[in-house]
Amino acid sequence: MEKAEIGLIGLAVMGSNLALNIAEKGNRIAVYNRTPDKTDSFIAEAGPLAERIVPAKTLEEFVASIRPPRPVIIMVKAGDPVDQLIATLRNYLSPGDIIIDAGNANFRDTIRRFEGLKDSGLTFIGMGVSGGEEGARHGPSIMVGGTEESYRRVEKVLTSISAKFKGEDCCAWLGENGAGHFVKTIHNGIEYADMQMIAEIYGILRDGLGLSAKECSEIFGRWNKGRLNSYLIEISEAVLKADDPITGKPMVDMIVDRAGQKGTGKWSVIEAQNMGVPATAIEAAVAARSLSSFKEQRERAENFLGRPGTGSINVADRDVFIADLELALLAGKIGAYAQGFAVMAEASKEFGWQLPMPTIAKIWRAGCIIRSQFLDDITQAFREMPDVDNLVITPAFSAMVKETDGALRRTVSAAMLAGLPVPALASALSYFDSYRRGRGTANLIQAQRDYFGAHGFDRVDGVDKHHGPWGSGLADF
Ligand code: 6PG
Repeated sequence: MEKAEIGLIGLAVMGSNLALNIAEKGNRIAVYNRTPDKTDSFIAEAGPLAERIVPAKTLEEFVASIRPPRPVIIMVKAGDPVDQLIATLRNYLSPGDIIIDAGNANFRDTIRRFEGLKDSGLTFIGMGVSGGEEGARHGPSIMVGGTEESYRRVEKVLTSISAKFKGEDCCAWLGENGAGHFVKTIHNGIEYADMQMIAEIYGILRDGLGLSAKECSEIFGRWNKGRLNSYLIEISEAVLKADDPITGKPMVDMIVDRAGQKGTGKWSVIEAQNMGVPATAIEAAVAARSLSSFKEQRERAENFLGRPGTGSINVADRDVFIADLELALLAGKIGAYAQGFAVMAEASKEFGWQLPMPTIAKIWRAGCIIRSQFLDDITQAFREMPDVDNLVITPAFSAMVKETDGALRRTVSAAMLAGLPVPALASALSYFDSYRRGRGTANLIQAQRDYFGAHGFDRVDGVDKHHGPWGSGLADF
């Protein structure tokens, strides 16, 4: 039988869709799943694509059915299962073969696995894949980390299956070892912030203005035709429009307000904090998901404390206010993306990756969950200024901040006065306000630190005297 040019292990939702995509693009692929029944049902449902798929019942058979040097994609649950699979798989593979982890791995694990395989003659690629089930099947965004040489060996297959934006592949090599999984993590952090800000605006529409799910859907539908055009706004329109077949009520009204999270948002925040880069909008989004999970506590607190504010927003002109919300969301997005890119720029230095910002923005324009028109603007901005410190000081984005921040300020103020939580939008606004303030208030913090710990400070006049005469006469506490 003709050998396959690539193999894939793990036929759960993402793995099976990726395998079908690979076969559909004309590549011959071997597949293996721990439970053979799954492989049988996968082949039975593959239709004519089954001709290009070689099913294997054992790992030995699987490896033997791939032409060396073998690229093997593994798509199993992140964490220990990946280590266990690598440990077994390396007994069957030969020097020159490439293991490609396409799951949502923590990039620190990817670096460890990359280093761990170095002396074995095998190479390891950590590959971020975004786009969910649909993306995996018809064209995801693919973020690759590993040696450039190993990427070149699989580039043809990977670019054949990736999404395209105006003919350009949404797949690229981004740097050594954990670079691809790191970028995917930050993609997800931004995804959390994007989703949270949309949910906050939905909260203002639903609770502040008293709009129904259908009315909210219409507004998102309108916005999707404008500057907010994006996959997440598109699906927000769709989900707000859907009805529950059991009760006939809007589906979204029947869903418990408790959001899940698998860890990538949290990892983005941990890494940002480790490097001392503020990612406040992403932090707020992760914290909001955590707070959402305290459902029973929130219900008890509502009874105990009462809800703050009036709950509703009285506006002189509803259309004008809704137009403000659209701009506020755009402004909030700018804050979240600026923070995400700043985290990647710092990580690039810290881990020696030389992450290519214009390429990252470029491969996020299609296929992935945060795909949008907006990312094309970011691509242009980084193409013009690839080493800029912060997206908000590129000419295009500083103009956009100046245009939209008034709307963000009015929106956040109105929501806060009404007692509606807008943590991610508010943190984006405070980020702008802090970032563009040449003289902030940390002078007081420095004085306090020097007072209680003699930590010293720099003087504005450059005089070489770094401790205060703080005097005495303080009350005892
Ligand atoms: C993607 C998604 C995908 C997945 C996340 C969501 O880019 O395709 O981000 O990776 O949906 O894991 O994670 P949470 O369960 O943490 O929301």
